Amino acid sequence: METRSLGKHGLEAAAIGLGCMGMTEWYGHIDEKQSVRTIHRALEIGITLLDTADMYAVGRNEQLVGRALTGGWRDLAIVATKFGHRRDPETGKFLGVSGRPEYVRAACEASLLRLGIDYIDLYQQHRVDREVPIEETVGVMKELVDEGKVLYLGLSEAQPEDIRRAVAVAPISTLQTEYSLFERHVENDILDTCEELVIGFLAYSPLGRGLLTGRWQTEADFDEADTRGAGTTYPRFQPGNFEHNLALVETVKAVGAGEGYTAAQVSLAWLLAQRSWIVPIPGTKRVERIDENAAAVELMLTAQELAVLDALGEPAGTRYPEASIPAWTSPPLPGT
Ligand SMILES: NC(=O)c1ccc[n+]([C@@H]2O[C@H](COP(=O)([O-])OP(=O)(O)OC[C@H]3O[C@@H](n4cnc5c(N)ncnc54)[C@H](OP(=O)(O)O)[C@@H]3O)[C@@H](O)[C@H]2O)c1
Repeated sequence: METRSLGKHGLEAAAIGLGCMGMTEWYGHIDEKQSVRTIHRALEIGITLLDTADMYAVGRNEQLVGRALTGGWRDLAIVATKFGHRRDPETGKFLGVSGRPEYVRAACEASLLRLGIDYIDLYQQHRVDREVPIEETVGVMKELVDEGKVLYLGLSEAQPEDIRRAVAVAPISTLQTEYSLFERHVENDILDTCEELVIGFLAYSPLGRGLLTGRWQTEADFDEADTRGAGTTYPRFQPGNFEHNLALVETVKAVGAGEGYTAAQVSLAWLLAQRSWIVPIPGTKRVERIDENAAAVELMLTAQELAVLDALGEPAGTRYPEASIPAWTSPPLPGT
């Protein structure tokens, strides 16, 4: 598997990673045994970066990843986890974002315990806390590196100004943000900032939460535990938007059809072609998807195919409900 260099502090990962979020919550039926097999298959074929977070299923996702890493698998993995979203341990209710130094320390200790490992390879701030100067948050993250609890540092959904302030005080290797054929907002100035500051990029939801695969065609295709069903959580899955977006996926399918590649593979290959320091982290809980997604590295899209994909058109609906986006994206106005 091709490897990619992420940032300037020595982090290298296979060009395709594995997102573990859907293995325990939000994307339908849970099958932990199958998920563990999926993680093992990924590591077996050379996928290295496993992405989780303390908030996924209120810690149960980290525990699942930790269980998969026992028995010698840990050495093959780059364990990437995140802190920052607080949830009630009993109810799972979201309690807001915290980047307070004492919180970061406690969160790191708790993640290490749940994962059952001595150090975290990549520790990421999940969302910037607009109440806490980012210098304070990444300052304590750097202390965790100095203490050997963490190897590399990353941010998620941070804005260019946040990133600049963070790199001034801590060695930031990665930015993780949504990026796919359906979500291209990072092309405005975020990717340029990463390039200038030599920060690697982890493209999350690279398959548009599954929409870009064309696998879900009707409401009935989502099981009752799937938060994408009826578009209750994600506007791009809402009736009306869903059909419009599926029609766009036909173009993605057509690009790969000639050479026998799937829409998922075309979507991942398109991301890999954007910059040499992007690693998409598709999520799956199925063994067979691992091989399919990994094979996307073999697909070299021609200039003509890239042009067709670039001209795909806008999906209908925002990536998250509109009301939840501004708080993460805009630094507070001066004086607020
Ligand atoms: N930093 C953040 O705020 C943030 C936010 C969201 C996600 N993430 C991270 O990014 C990772 C990936 O994002 P995501 O899971 O939201 O979305 P995604 O990777 O765009 O899509 C995942 C969905 O696609 C399906 N899928 C995967 N490969 C497929 C294939 N080859 N053919 C057909 N279907 C396929 C999966 O279903 P099956 O499981 O059934 O295969 C799953 O339902 C997450 O696991 C998480 O680690 C981070």
